[in-house]
Amino acid sequence: MTGMQLEPEDERILAGEEGETRQKMLELLIALGKVFGAQRLVEIKSAQVSGASYKTIGKYGLEWLTSLDAKAVVPAVLNPIGMPRGRWEEMGIDPAFARDQQAVIAAYERLGIRLDCTCTPYYLYSTGYGEHLAWSESSAVSYVNSVIGARTNREGGPGALAAALIGKTPCYGLHLEHNRGPQVIVSVQADTRDWGIADYGALGYHAGKLVGNRVPYFRGIMPDADQLKSLGAAMAATGAVALYHVEGVTPEAVKIPFDLNGLEAIAVEPEEIKTLFNEIPVEAVAVGCPHCSPAELAEIARLLNGKIVTKPLYVFAAQGVIDRNARVVDSIEKSGARVFADTCMVVSPVMEQYASIMVNSGKALAYVPNMCGGRARIGTIEDCIRVATE
Ligand code: F3S
Repeated sequence: MTGMQLEPEDERILAGEEGETRQKMLELLIALGKVFGAQRLVEIKSAQVSGASYKTIGKYGLEWLTSLDAKAVVPAVLNPIGMPRGRWEEMGIDPAFARDQQAVIAAYERLGIRLDCTCTPYYLYSTGYGEHLAWSESSAVSYVNSVIGARTNREGGPGALAAALIGKTPCYGLHLEHNRGPQVIVSVQADTRDWGIADYGALGYHAGKLVGNRVPYFRGIMPDADQLKSLGAAMAATGAVALYHVEGVTPEAVKIPFDLNGLEAIAVEPEEIKTLFNEIPVEAVAVGCPHCSPAELAEIARLLNGKIVTKPLYVFAAQGVIDRNARVVDSIEKSGARVFADTCMVVSPVMEQYASIMVNSGKALAYVPNMCGGRARIGTIEDCIRVATE
């Protein structure tokens, strides 16, 4: 007895007729579903699997992965790993780490996971409103739920991998419409007309601490898609926000007449955001958290035009986005900056060599100190490029 409604195909998998790995993976999904009160499994369109950097999963994670024997049945990609697959030597990655990281990649490839290692798979594969997914990286989860209107909980690495191999996930939490409504109103009391990506990252950094794991409904802002990406990534880092709405902007806020009566309302003042923009000296600059969009790459290229970097400038983006914007990437690299795929300033061990890093991301501002050991400074993209080239 599972306590969950199962299809005949699920019963066959549970009986071990499709191999031990699929049996164990379905058992894992059912166990997760029981914990969270799911009544059934739901078919998913895609999965995004975290636990891909050797820095985070280590020897035991790799052993577990290599013990599995099944293939993904839906499109599934990986989270960023500890190094760019093609240019790890150029990034200064230790060969021993590279060997272990390549073993992790090989294990996932054997399981049929696509080797796009990115937190922005929505730039590579089309994802639609209302689709059920099993994604795990917090900023990707926030983006697809909030900006696209797809439906995913924030999966752990094993849960997302199990979903990729079975093609289903337990139907609870954000898969259910009644859990997707606003739980707190955040009113931004600032003139945001000139705000850029870093300002929205700083807002997310601040708001995440205020709202915790509730679904916020923002008023007083009009962010574009890249700014929404930055806002959501930071809120997922300092809070546990997997879904948010922005009045008049995000799809569910536009389509669904949410009942906001009786919700707590929090006001955010401009000074609370400004104070996050400190001016500590930095040893390196890193942008692309979450991984850059084509528009962000174009903006970086424009700002770098005719300049040479005087300190390391790292730019991170998905390999597919880099490939489709090769001329822009070449133009960025003419300055001495490097555009790396597959990894980022938080999961790559290379960033640990710097005592302080400048970023234009609220999420990186939150994670760099703990994950890389250095201090972090947030600035606009214009300031990041100025500091990298002055
Ligand atoms: Fe992506 Fe790394 Fe930032 S995974 S969201 S670039 S911390």
